[in-house]
Amino acid sequence: MKALILSGGHGTRLRPLTYSQQKQLIPVANKPVLFYAIEDVVEAGIRDIGIIVGPNKEQVVETVSSVEWDAEIEFIYQGEPRGLAHAILVAEDFLDDEEFVMYLGDNILKDGIVDHAEKFKKLNPDSLILLTEVENPQQFGVAELDENGRIKKLVEKPRIPPSSYALVGIYFFKQVIIEACKSIKPSWRNELEITDAIQWLIDNGYNVEASIVKGWWKDTGKPEDILEANRLVLDGIQPEGKGKVENSRVIGRVVIEEGALIKDSIVKGPCIIGRNCRIVNSYIGPYTSVGNGCEIEGTEVEDSVIMDGSKIVNAGRVIESLIGRNVRIQECGFKPRGHRFVVGDNSDIVL
Ligand code: DAU
Repeated sequence: MKALILSGGHGTRLRPLTYSQQKQLIPVANKPVLFYAIEDVVEAGIRDIGIIVGPNKEQVVETVSSVEWDAEIEFIYQGEPRGLAHAILVAEDFLDDEEFVMYLGDNILKDGIVDHAEKFKKLNPDSLILLTEVENPQQFGVAELDENGRIKKLVEKPRIPPSSYALVGIYFFKQVIIEACKSIKPSWRNELEITDAIQWLIDNGYNVEASIVKGWWKDTGKPEDILEANRLVLDGIQPEGKGKVENSRVIGRVVIEEGALIKDSIVKGPCIIGRNCRIVNSYIGPYTSVGNGCEIEGTEVEDSVIMDGSKIVNAGRVIESLIGRNVRIQECGFKPRGHRFVVGDNSDIVL
């Protein structure tokens, strides 16, 4: 079996971060979201991986290639994101008549895909889709099931959802999906929708099975989703102390990476402090991920994601925040006093 992981698209709902960073490379617990997908696929024994890249393709290639994976990885250029079914057509040569799992690179799944891959092999359907119950089905593809739990119909982001079962962004397919993708027309948002292609399979008598996801699942499409995914992943970390702790209290499950210094501070887990960070006279609270090379001084940070190279000094209390790379936030120590901003387009500031 092969895997097709999607790492294209513009990630507009995550601006301004996605002006400079491909969405699937945004870190959750100090690891790019995309890496969770690659790890799940490798864990399922798949060694032949195609990664769809679009805008910022160099970033994705560079980041993925910086790690030695136990798999062959090929990058496939999609260009403009014209839909999930379009991505399959772009990868037709790579897929080469084999069955495959398609994994959306912005999805994170607690328990991985091993059980679902086994179910696909055992039931041997034309497609196996993953479903999970959600409170906001309007924001996803939704499955309508019959009284026996079989899939009747799939609809993409319906205003009135036929059920609370959302389609998780992981799909197993046999090669007939290529014919389905070629047979459908673009949707109202001008994309070739994967839901329409799977509906085509159902309408043409192919066997589409469902597998229910029991552990948590997160589509990291929006800023609040990144923070939630960060909480969920940090909930499962084990403490690790490679850095230096001076005159400080470290409470609960905390990962301190190599070269980090915690001085005159309190750090309360679950949280992770990246390589070569300096945390001085500060409080780092639960559900915080501090990227590599950050400096936090005289500040309280809780429930936040702070990316590599950022510096926060005497900034009061920072909560539920998503802070990009190389950001500076500091107290105004001179007159006239006031907030001074150099902020990119579509930023979001709450004072
Ligand atoms: O996350 C689950 C949902 O994913 C499903 O419930 C929906 O049925 C499915 O359509 C999809 O909805 P989204 O609106 O979340 O899809 P999005 O446009 O965000 O694309 C998903 C990922 O695939 C994202 O990481 C970007 C990438 N992508 C997207 C498109 C449209 C590509 O690489 N190429 C593309 O053409």
